[in-house]
Amino acid sequence: MALDMELEAVLRPPVLEMKPYPPKVITLANGKKLVVRQAEREDVPSLLKAVHPCLFISRDYYDIVAARLYGELLAWYRYRVRSEYCLVGQVEGYVVGLVNGRMVDEKVGMSYHTLAIDRGLRIGSHLFAAKMEYHIEYLEQDEVLIVAESPIGFRRWMIEYGLEETTIQHELGGGDSYRLTRDLYFASRPRLVVGDRPVPQDLWDQATRDLLVIDEKALNEKIAGLKGR
Ligand SMILES: CC(C)(COP(=O)(O)OP(=O)(O)OC[C@H]1O[C@@H](n2cnc3c(N)ncnc32)[C@H](O)[C@@H]1OP(=O)(O)O)[C@@H](O)C(=O)NCCC(=O)NCCS
Repeated sequence: MALDMELEAVLRPPVLEMKPYPPKVITLANGKKLVVRQAEREDVPSLLKAVHPCLFISRDYYDIVAARLYGELLAWYRYRVRSEYCLVGQVEGYVVGLVNGRMVDEKVGMSYHTLAIDRGLRIGSHLFAAKMEYHIEYLEQDEVLIVAESPIGFRRWMIEYGLEETTIQHELGGGDSYRLTRDLYFASRPRLVVGDRPVPQDLWDQATRDLLVIDEKALNEKIAGLKGR
């Protein structure tokens, strides 16, 4: 069906210009290389395939986080959300985690979601750090508003970064927002933000050639353990 571009122009929100996130590579505790790069809009259909199986895993709140992330990625793909970005983590081409968020305005960032598909390697933690790095160092924002949807998330973000409490309603609903300020970011940076640039050409080619998605059985085992512990 042909799009009515006049109506489409009304339905599509305005978006702020966003500087790109420079890709980096992180050596994980198991020696494997995690490439963190900004996803392109055309990557979304593959990313949705990676997120989809998580919709049915209730352990550690994977279901609700995956459902929301799925909707947000689709909204970006279909031009129905303002100024959203997504960073993807890949090992040997496979998607192992995702983070997304958006610019509210020039100064304020809104953190949306963090999803680690491979676990026990702090991949979620590294990707969240990359997201904060993007907002503060590359988008040059003053603060990022964050809400936790799971106890692990609360431990990883609110406690590890010592985030400030606020009474600001977060766009995701739920509890009040916590705030990462520039000062908190730079205080945590040496401990939590790692990675090397530039990404070696072979790793970059592997990450951008194919966005590989692990099969559903393997994904279930990685997230919930062999017996769904
Ligand atoms: C929160 C999240 C992104 C953190 O990712 P991460 O930093 O890579 O951490 P992991 O999930 O691998 O591990 C978290 C803890 O659970 C343990 N764990 C639980 N199930 C595990 C499994 N199947 N395999 C390995 N570790 C597991 C880890 O040992 C770790 O313990 P630690 O905190 O003492 O280090 C990730 O847990 C996730 O995607 N959760 C579901 C969505 C979510 O809650 N997002 C954040 C919303 S605020």
